[in-house]
Amino acid sequence: DWTMENFIDLEVEKIRNQVGDQKVLCALSGGVDSSVVAALIHRAIGDQLTCIFVDHGLLRKDEADTVMNTFSEGFNMNVIKVDAEERFMSKLRGVSDPEKKRKIIGNEFIYVFDEQAEELKDMDYLAQGTLYTDIIESGTETAQTIKSHHNVGGLPEDMEFKLIEPLNALFKDEVRALGTELGVPDHIVWRQPFPGPGLAIRVLGEITDEKLKIVRESDAILREEVKNAGLERDIWQYFTVLPDIRSVGVMGDARTYDYTVGIRAVTSIDGMTSDWARIPYDVLELISTRIVNEVDHVNRIVYDVTSKPPSTIEWE
Ligand code: XMP
Repeated sequence: DWTMENFIDLEVEKIRNQVGDQKVLCALSGGVDSSVVAALIHRAIGDQLTCIFVDHGLLRKDEADTVMNTFSEGFNMNVIKVDAEERFMSKLRGVSDPEKKRKIIGNEFIYVFDEQAEELKDMDYLAQGTLYTDIIESGTETAQTIKSHHNVGGLPEDMEFKLIEPLNALFKDEVRALGTELGVPDHIVWRQPFPGPGLAIRVLGEITDEKLKIVRESDAILREEVKNAGLERDIWQYFTVLPDIRSVGVMGDARTYDYTVGIRAVTSIDGMTSDWARIPYDVLELISTRIVNEVDHVNRIVYDVTSKPPSTIEWE
C-alpha cells in the first residue's frame, strides 16, 4: 500500500537506475520544491549531486545562511554558493519599471547559473522541482501574462542536460510530506511563497541599498511577530513593501521626513485570488511600533486592505 516511505524507496531506486554513475546538477533556491528535490536526489545518489545556490542579494534577512546551514552543513550536500549581489545590483541600478526589473533578474540568474554549470563541466542531468500542478497549468500561459513570473526553475532550453523531475506527479501538500519524511526542516517545508525576483519587487521603483535594507529589516520584524503570534500557518503570505513615498512625522521634538512601509498579509488557496488577512490589531500595533523604532528612516506604517482581484499580492 501507498506510504511516503514506500514512495521514497521507489523513487530512490528509480533515480539510481536512471542516473547510474553520472552527475546531477540542481538549482537550489531554498524554496519548498527545489529543497525537496535536492533532498530526495541526495538520498538516492549522495555526492553525485551538486547544487548551485545563487545569492542575488535580494533575499530575506539571514536566508542565504539558513539555506547553507540546512543543506551544506545539515545534509552534507555539495552546494556551491554564488555571491552575485554586486552583479545583480549593478544591472538593476537606475531601473524602475517592474517588468524590466523582473527580466533583468531572470536573465542574470540564467547567466550566473550557466557560468557555474560550465565550470563544473561533467554534469549530465539537471534536476527540477516541477510539480504536477506546474504541468497541468502550463497550458494556461495567458493567466500569467499579468506579470511575468521568473522562477529559478526557468532555465534555458538550449542547455545540454537531460532533465530529472521526480516531483512531477505530486501536489504541494505531498511535496511537503515528502520533505518532512526526508528530514527537511519545518521552516523550509512550510515556507511561505517567495518570488524569484525577491525583495527587488518589494522595493517599488528604483532599488538602492538603503531601500533594500529597510524592506529586509522590516520584513524580518513582521515575520518574527507573525510567528510569535502563532499565525504563520494561517496566513498564505506576509511581507513588507517600500513604496517610493516619504511623509512628515515627529520624533521627540523634531520633525521627520521619512519613508512609509506597507504591510501586506493575505489568505489564499493558490495565490490566484486572495483576501487580506485579519491580523489582530494588537499584533499589528506591535509590528508597527517595532518597525518604526528599530528600522532607520521609517516614520509611518500602513496596512494593505485590498483583495486580489483587483490588487495583486505583490505590489509590483
Ligand atoms: P501576484 O503578485 O501576481 O502574485 O498576485 C501571485 C503569487 O506569485 C508570486 N510572484 C512571483 N513568483 N516570480 C515568482 O517566482 C515572480 O516574478 C513573481 N511575482 C509574483 C507572489 O509572491 C504570489 O505568491
